Amino acid sequence: MEAGRTLRVAVIRGDGIGPEVVAAALPAICDAAAHDGVAVVCEELDWGGERLLRTGAAMPPDALDLVRAHDAILFGAIGHPQIDPAESVWSLVLPLRKGLELYANLRPVVGWDGLWSPAREGVEVDFLVVRENTEGEYSGIGGRAHAGTPLEVATEVAVHSRPAIERIARCAFLHARERGQLLTLATKSNVNRHGYGLWDEVVFELGAREFPDVALEKNYVDALATRMVARPESLGVVLAGNLFGDILSDLGAPFAGGLGMVPSANVAPGLDVPGFFEPVHGSAPDIAGKGVANPLATVLSGAMLLRENGCPAGAGALETAVAAAIRDGAVTADLGGRATTAEAGEAVRAALPAAVTP
Ligand code: NAD
Ligand code: IPM
Ligand code: MN
Repeated sequence: MEAGRTLRVAVIRGDGIGPEVVAAALPAICDAAAHDGVAVVCEELDWGGERLLRTGAAMPPDALDLVRAHDAILFGAIGHPQIDPAESVWSLVLPLRKGLELYANLRPVVGWDGLWSPAREGVEVDFLVVRENTEGEYSGIGGRAHAGTPLEVATEVAVHSRPAIERIARCAFLHARERGQLLTLATKSNVNRHGYGLWDEVVFELGAREFPDVALEKNYVDALATRMVARPESLGVVLAGNLFGDILSDLGAPFAGGLGMVPSANVAPGLDVPGFFEPVHGSAPDIAGKGVANPLATVLSGAMLLRENGCPAGAGALETAVAAAIRDGAVTADLGGRATTAEAGEAVRAALPAAVTP
């Protein structure tokens, strides 16, 4: 991004630990953008559970237009103790991902020096889950009949379309090419032969046609789950549908130090829409309000936000500062430290390398 420019960020703190981790991470993210000569201008959007309880809706009716006026969205988490979790997620996160057509959910898992991980000594973990983010098991199509009777029946229809598979596959191939890594397709086409059968066909056709230089393999998702735990170093880019990608990204989290360490980007390569950047974790009601949540997944989501918006120096500075905070032990209890959420965020901010004005 051109120096002297501003980056307009919509900030949605959300519920539970969302406001705590965003408050701790945001100053470091804003400071880091100075490394690219960019000033971050934030607009606070009070969307989430409290607003839903107050007004009946978590977001205003023109929410999509409001966020489209920004370059990016930084989000904490959704999930309020007084609201049904399904109502919560269908009131904010899913409408934004789907409504903006943010079809690619990128969830990197990287091991950090100094953090415990289940990986064997000396094994380097660095893989990226590329998750389809608009359809699959998250189509929202379904219903119930014979409610409350012994014959009650429910459907939850998974939708897999050729264009959606093709665009997410192209995104995954491009990442595999750039990272110089193997692409592993996670499906369950041995059972779901219609939907995941289409995935296998479309991904292998696209590979042969446009990415003959990228090594591609298929791994049924059940076997892949074992492999992720036993040999995480054998994975590079993992391409998965919506539900498998959700599960696999949480499964991989311990290799990065846990759910408090894994960031994500919801983006739409080729479409002119703001990306939506959020930690992989949720609102963590068990620790909300205690000031102990780890803000580093949000800091690292901020690094993804900066990198996607032409601020690579700021992104790198944040990652360097996170490594330094870990080295100095200025981390929260989930990582074995004693820092509060605010202190951990402040430690990252203080560890940012000095910005060189471009
Ligand atoms: P969760 O990710 O909120 O918590 C799982 C466990 O990880 C908890 O023990 C929690 O304390 C711990 N944890 C999570 N983030 C942490 C952090 N930053 N630092 C330290 N520990 C952390 O998942 P859950 O308990 O299954 O879900 C709680 C609520 O969050 C539900 O309502 C769910 O729907 C929602 N949720 C929202 C999102 C989102 O907003 N994107 C993501 C996942 C879950
Ligand atoms: C995540 C969450 C969401 C998902 C929920 C909150 C809709 O688990 O971001 O991983 O399933 O995608
Ligand atoms: Mn999840």
